Amino acid sequence: MGDVRGRRVILAANWKMNQVTAEAIGFISDFLPRVQGREDREVVICPSFPYLRAVKEALEGSWVKLGAQNLHWAEKGAFTGEVSPLMLKDAGCQHVIVGHSERRQHFAETDEMVNQKLKAAVAHDLLPILCVGETLAERETGRTEEVVLRQMNGTPKSSPPAAVTKLVIAYEPVWAIGTGRSAQPADAQMVAAWLRRTVGELFGVPVAERVRIQYGGSVTAMNIGSFMREADIDGALVGGASLSPETFAAIVNF
Ligand code: PGA
Repeated sequence: MGDVRGRRVILAANWKMNQVTAEAIGFISDFLPRVQGREDREVVICPSFPYLRAVKEALEGSWVKLGAQNLHWAEKGAFTGEVSPLMLKDAGCQHVIVGHSERRQHFAETDEMVNQKLKAAVAHDLLPILCVGETLAERETGRTEEVVLRQMNGTPKSSPPAAVTKLVIAYEPVWAIGTGRSAQPADAQMVAAWLRRTVGELFGVPVAERVRIQYGGSVTAMNIGSFMREADIDGALVGGASLSPETFAAIVNF
């Protein structure tokens, strides 16, 4: 697995609503040579929907994977503006981000919807990156665990253990996203360890040992090393710092 944890490190670029064709293609051609030989790490690029195909083509022949930022749970039908898991597979995606806090905040995604999306991703063999994380007010009132548990809402309970093993959980405190104010690595580790214990209680220790947990929220080339030194943090979900090929490559090569 190439890591002391026995779990493959996973670094994902969440481009959010950024990068049009020329930027996306330019990024990939600049980025790939910079991460040559780092196949021991799983690297995923998540562009906006219209650029999935172009990025897939640019990644042709490389080990770097393609992911989407969202999905609908239905395979097809009258859901104007939505994109189905079938379509993501067809476009070449292997991963999909589910329940990002920006989706929860700005697009009213509920835990129930996130749960349906998660199940649809698993059913279509898309590896889900499930985002959870508390707001500042929730943290300050000591509700982090309660909130994160609610966001995971029966998710694991309703999925077969084999699917849970493949799940990636991204712990992203909302107050740390895009603010330049990352969590303290030790605090992120505490939540990650608690998440793993919780998965262990639900599915048994062997499953918990294999689930990968990312930290996300103002990750940079400067602070990635301090997060990756923590025992239960297996990678990062990176927003702003993933838009520059040089910076994201430095994060991959931490
Ligand atoms: P950020 O975003 O790295 O810009 O804080 C992380 C995320 O939203 O996944």
